[in-house]
Amino acid sequence: MTIDITVTINGRLYRASVEPRLLLSDFLRDTLGLTGTHVGCEHGVCGACTVIIDGDSVRSCLTLAVRADGATITTVEGLGTPEQLNALQHQFRECHGLQCGFCTPGMLMTGMDLLKKYPLATDDQIREGLSGNLCRCTGYQNIVAAIRAAAALRNETTP
Ligand code: FES
Ligand code: FES
Repeated sequence: MTIDITVTINGRLYRASVEPRLLLSDFLRDTLGLTGTHVGCEHGVCGACTVIIDGDSVRSCLTLAVRADGATITTVEGLGTPEQLNALQHQFRECHGLQCGFCTPGMLMTGMDLLKKYPLATDDQIREGLSGNLCRCTGYQNIVAAIRAAAALRNETTP
C-alpha cells in the first residue's frame, strides 16, 4: 500500500506515493536525491538529519514521510549554493565551524532555527540549542562562534 503526499521542499512542489513506514530522511535522500541531509544514528540522538518543517527544526529520521504531507520543508540544499553561501554557512566557513562536515547540515538547520527564535542569542542559548546535535570533530567552540557571528551580523544589518 502507498499513500500520496504533496510536499514543498526548498520552494519546489513534490508529489509522491510513499509507503506508510518510509522515513522522511529516506524520502529526502533516496527518493528525491537530496543527500545533503545526513543520517547518523537513525534514533533521534545525533541531529545530523535535522530539517526545518513548517518553521521548526525537526529530526527527519523520527518523522514519517506521510507526516510531511502538505508541509513546507527546508533542507540544507535550500540555504545557499556553493557560489553563494547564506550568512550562517558563510560564518561556518569563516569561523572554521566544521571539519569532516558530517554533522554540518544538521548544525546549520538547527542554527537557522536558533537564529529565528533567538535573534540576540547568547552563548548559553546557542549551546543549549545545539545540545541535541552531536559533533565528533570540532569541540563545538567554532560552531558556537559561527552562530554567534551570524547573529551579530544579522543584528548589525537589521535596523
Ligand atoms: S540520524 Fe536522525 S538524529 Fe541521528
Ligand atoms: S565536523 Fe565532523 S562530526 Fe562535526
